[in-house]
Amino acid sequence: WIIYLAAALIGYGLGSIPFGLLLTRAAGLGDVRSIGSGNIGATNVLRTGNKKLAAATLLLDLLKGTAAVLILRLLIPTQPDAATLSGVAAFLGHLFPIWLGFKGGKGVATYIGVLLGLFWPAVLIFAGVWIAVAYFSRYSSLGALVATLVVPLSLWGLDETTLAAVFALLTAIVWAKHHANIRRLLSGTEGKIGHKG
Ligand code: G3P
Repeated sequence: WIIYLAAALIGYGLGSIPFGLLLTRAAGLGDVRSIGSGNIGATNVLRTGNKKLAAATLLLDLLKGTAAVLILRLLIPTQPDAATLSGVAAFLGHLFPIWLGFKGGKGVATYIGVLLGLFWPAVLIFAGVWIAVAYFSRYSSLGALVATLVVPLSLWGLDETTLAAVFALLTAIVWAKHHANIRRLLSGTEGKIGHKG
């Protein structure tokens, strides 16, 4: 069980690094939590108007999830479960970082990163769905909601039943974290991509 504890701690430690907050602060843009949706993710960093910073946030929040999986796979290649646990812990670390009083992001980028580490082909499915939905609707949140729904279904369809169950759980958490976005989508008041709202 020491292995699993170590996996959880390494994953959580990596996942809890709030890159969106750190990058916007370092760039002198203030606290990203005080603008737009108040979230620390790439979508809200884009509302500062700095596209490069938003892209960097997306990439780093994503890669910390991938790193959590790959590090454990490298350290303990005989225990694939430990890599999965580390990825899940990274996702939870992003959502509930101890450094921010457990008030973190909504998990989408880290979800993709964990998926990249555990079953990369599904990232292509996520990306295709997200891009199509976000392109036509201009809502980042709607793209994420639909794509995270399609991922566990696709994994299940590909007979990756354990991963399908793991990602069904992560999807449920992503949806729960998007409750305010869902309400705004339903009332037509959700902020579109790049808009300050
Ligand atoms: O993953 C975050 C995105 O789906 C919504 O972000 O800032 O519009 O709440 P935001």
